[in-house]
Amino acid sequence: MEENIHEISHRAQALRAEIELHNYRYYVLDNPSIPDAEYDRLLRELQQIEQDFPQLITAGSPTQRVGAAPLKAFAQITHTVPMLSLSNAFDESEVEAFDRRVRDGLSVDSVEYTAEPKFDGLAVSLRYEHGDFKTGATRGDGYTGEDITLNLRTIRSIPLRLPLTHPPALLEVRGEVLMLQKDFQRLNQQQLAKGEKEFANPRNAAAGSLRQLDPGITATRRLTFFAYGIGQCDDADLPRDTHYRMLQYLSALHFPVTQECRVVTGLTGLLDYYRAIGAKRDALPYAIDGVVYKVNSLAFQEKLGFVSRAPRFAIAHKFPAQEAITQLLDIDVQVGRTGALTPVARLQPVFVGGVTVTNATLHNADEIERKDVRIGDTVIVRRAGDVIPEVVSVVAEKRPADARMFVMPGHCPVCGAKAVRLPDEAVARCTGGLFCPAQRKQAILHFASRRALDIEGLGDKLVDQMVDNAIIRTPADLYKLGLAALASLERMAEKSAGNILRAIEKSKHTTLARFIYALGIRNVGEATAKELAAHLGSLDRLIEADSERLQQIPDIGPVVAQSIVDFFAESHNREVIEQLRACGVHWDEHEGKSAQNSLAEPLSGKTFVLTGTLPTMSREEAKEKIEALGGKVSGSVSKKTDYVVVGADPGSKYDKAVSIGITLLDQEGLEALLK
Ligand code: IVH
Repeated sequence: MEENIHEISHRAQALRAEIELHNYRYYVLDNPSIPDAEYDRLLRELQQIEQDFPQLITAGSPTQRVGAAPLKAFAQITHTVPMLSLSNAFDESEVEAFDRRVRDGLSVDSVEYTAEPKFDGLAVSLRYEHGDFKTGATRGDGYTGEDITLNLRTIRSIPLRLPLTHPPALLEVRGEVLMLQKDFQRLNQQQLAKGEKEFANPRNAAAGSLRQLDPGITATRRLTFFAYGIGQCDDADLPRDTHYRMLQYLSALHFPVTQECRVVTGLTGLLDYYRAIGAKRDALPYAIDGVVYKVNSLAFQEKLGFVSRAPRFAIAHKFPAQEAITQLLDIDVQVGRTGALTPVARLQPVFVGGVTVTNATLHNADEIERKDVRIGDTVIVRRAGDVIPEVVSVVAEKRPADARMFVMPGHCPVCGAKAVRLPDEAVARCTGGLFCPAQRKQAILHFASRRALDIEGLGDKLVDQMVDNAIIRTPADLYKLGLAALASLERMAEKSAGNILRAIEKSKHTTLARFIYALGIRNVGEATAKELAAHLGSLDRLIEADSERLQQIPDIGPVVAQSIVDFFAESHNREVIEQLRACGVHWDEHEGKSAQNSLAEPLSGKTFVLTGTLPTMSREEAKEKIEALGGKVSGSVSKKTDYVVVGADPGSKYDKAVSIGITLLDQEGLEALLK
């Protein structure tokens, strides 16, 4: 038995070392070397041993990360080496002054520094005695902090035991606990799903998670740690020459150390680093609020010493704050190019993210309700990188008695058309697509696009110019354009003006399906437009159709039907359509089929495949003609194909058609069918 327990104890120790190593590879290096199932097997084996022989359980065992009972309160821990703070530099001149002070203090011309990210999390100190993680504490006031050992033990990237055969009697590692952006997003999604309050930023989420009295809760939050310094220490192996080498040593002890740390020289080195990190700030997996410069030589650090509570050898160069508090003066509604109504907060101007912000988006009515934002509130505004500033949350305690609720308007504030919100959309939209000034450019561009009325040469630059110069307001105005007005535009030669007018003239002859598509009705794409044209056969029937009638058409559900009804309910849209018809926009009546005359479609039920180039007919044209007569055009040949239309240089579809014996047609043969 004696012998046996000895062996088992050995096995347990080996398992612990192996599991810790896999933890390190997984959580610190992000590079696991065994499958999860194998890891689980090792953990289960250790758990079994510890269950059978509880006397073998050690505090440093990876099975013991979670499991302690909730605390009543945190105990206090005194930092033998105080955890000081850093002085801040907010602009380049303050960094310059720092570098000058350092050079003067050391009587040297140029200084080598380390530059590293300033993590936006919580400073902690981890105490290892004889290689075991014993206690961990918050910074507190720098001299005494709170004992959060149990919570820190749940953080997988913090080693419970140092990977050394002869560990030092004492080593205190200092660094920052934070929550990675991805884990923060995940946590907020969970909070939302549970109907609980979201965290405003990863720092708050990390703080809230770390200060739980119940370590069981902390264990469910994914927290990370980065080491950036040491406290008390009697480790003879600890490098004593530079900060950089000390960090490398911590990394060798399996502590997570940022990959972003650099050794740089002089003021330019510092500022180059600041700019480089600033540029990739949004792409980093964690939040940072600046960078930290430290004199690299530890001997120099000692020589420079401290002033009051901050070292003279280091400084934090802060990024402009991304969040600020201000007053919400009013809420306006903006209409986007696609008709989306966006509530916008008008703010008491505030400096945030490096610029003065006066407006911030509130996204949509649901967001306003969820955040419970009211006019007159004090709000937190965020501007990160190039993104549009947004209202993050309300400071509830500061709500004035006369704060007003916001009501989303039922009409477009720009054109007065009805605003509707479809059941599956977060935003309300203006239904005045054809005449709403906010949507003008978009509507005209869409109308003229290739699959709509196909007006060649009418691109976005020209549309911008024409709308900005008030030459056109709606698609109907295109057909009233004169050469003089068009040629008066900057950079518009008479010849190209002539070309455009010809293209506009040509577009008058179109198809019903194209025309319906060109109207830009929400949720009515090309395929739906074709369905509508085929089944209703005339525009007037479409305008008159109610939601029920529309839903009898295949593929048209209640949402699409409602969009169509809303669109035609807007009298201004109908007016623009009338103008278009009056200007001569027309289509062949036989093109569509009504429900009654569907039998009159000679190609109904026939499937065609097109391959190769036809002599005088484009593929689009052939497709349109076949479809107009009720035929279907498919992309691939199968037994169900009725005809394969073959042009010059056919592809593999031709070979397949021959091999399964499908009827082949050339352009002439097709035209005969189309007659
Ligand atoms: S070194 C003697 N390095 O900044 C000061 N601090 O204002 C030693 N911080 O409480 C701190 N990233 O929470 C250092 N790379 C970094 C840091 C960092 C974030 C925080 C830390 C500290 C505060 C100082």
